[in-house]
Amino acid sequence: MPKSGFDYQDDVLSCEKLKLTEIAERFSTPCYVYSAGAILANYRAYDDGLKAIPHEIHYSVKANASLAILSLLARAGAGFDIVSGGELFRVIGAGADPRKVVYSGVGKTEEEISYALKSGIGSFNCESESELCLLNEIAGRLGLKPVVAIRVNPDISAESHPYISTGLKDHKFGIAIDKAEQLYKNRGAFPRLNFEGISCHIGSQIFDTSVFFEALEKVAGLTERLRGAGLAIQHLDMGGGLGIAYAPSDNASSIAEFAGALSRALQGMDLRLMIEPGRSIVGPAGVLLTKVLYRKLAEKKEFLIVDAAMNDLIRPALYQSHHEIVPLERKERKTVLADVVGPICETGDFLARGRRMPAVEPGEILAIRTAGAYGFVLSSNYNARPRPAEVLIEDGHARLIRKREIYEDLVRGEAAV
Ligand code: LLP
Repeated sequence: MPKSGFDYQDDVLSCEKLKLTEIAERFSTPCYVYSAGAILANYRAYDDGLKAIPHEIHYSVKANASLAILSLLARAGAGFDIVSGGELFRVIGAGADPRKVVYSGVGKTEEEISYALKSGIGSFNCESESELCLLNEIAGRLGLKPVVAIRVNPDISAESHPYISTGLKDHKFGIAIDKAEQLYKNRGAFPRLNFEGISCHIGSQIFDTSVFFEALEKVAGLTERLRGAGLAIQHLDMGGGLGIAYAPSDNASSIAEFAGALSRALQGMDLRLMIEPGRSIVGPAGVLLTKVLYRKLAEKKEFLIVDAAMNDLIRPALYQSHHEIVPLERKERKTVLADVVGPICETGDFLARGRRMPAVEPGEILAIRTAGAYGFVLSSNYNARPRPAEVLIEDGHARLIRKREIYEDLVRGEAAV
């Protein structure tokens, strides 16, 4: 299991010896807090596990795109997996080298492709024939010859939540392997493209790692056939997707074991392995701090009304996902059956439902754990709620890496005509 960086010290949830009660007091709530040490340890677990083979780790920006986190990973040597021009802008703003960027996604616009080409990104993962045509045309106009990998769809079920599984043939992602093979072999139709890679991503939050190896086998077979047909395939991009434990009963794999198994599978294939992990690097390394506003007793359970809501963390509402919710102060308490809910006017606004948890009082601070990935990035201003602050803890110091929004931010760019 990836590292979180958070543990109880003297019965107070802490990060690198800093008590989160003090962080909450200093930065107020709701507030995301991340452990730089854990993020780096998770990144390095991939890097070390793959050291026996040529490899590149492209952190998946969509999981957490905060500039400070991107620059932390860039300084550690990471590359980046992006899916929009906006993510490229962020990566460049964080001081990363665009040559270490791979660009995935089914709907790249002409403007985005031009921006990426002009920035000199490392590789495009292309998902349709029409995208290849457009990229070929724009590259020709700019006098460039970008590296391309076709994203193949291996038709493998990732056994994850249906919204985040991507590798079945009725999903919008990638191109079926036989169709992709024809496109590679027909490379003469795309003279401005350099077909050096193959990419594949079968889904996210995957516990059964055997599906990655099933996909790898299919992609390795394609590599051999293409090499046999004279294509110089040099890299395989196996996407992201390693699952993490949200609930105590989740049985997540270790990054080191997964990376070790990948490197053994690829040994001797004369290929550079690329991977695009997001969740397993930042997910466990973040918490969302929230204050209990009210306790409201209903007939069979109680509602804990807190100051964070689905606009701050939408995962429970959108994917029915479980996040552990713990009081920052550990002491003897009764337990209650509670729904942890936010102030938003929707029944879907919950952070936990029917949860047996310690009885906490208004004013106490809770940590919603494993919230570092797909947390802040999916936040919104619904109900005109300013988005929360973000704090990074590094070497025992807490740094505000994003200010809490203020009301003026809510109307920026609007005209009241
Ligand atoms: N590469 C590609 C092409 C992807 O589509 C994704 C995730 C990743 C890499 C990173 O996957 P990871 O290592 O983080 O599993 N919002 C959802 C997750 C959506 C994942 C989308 N693609 C959630 O909160 O669970």
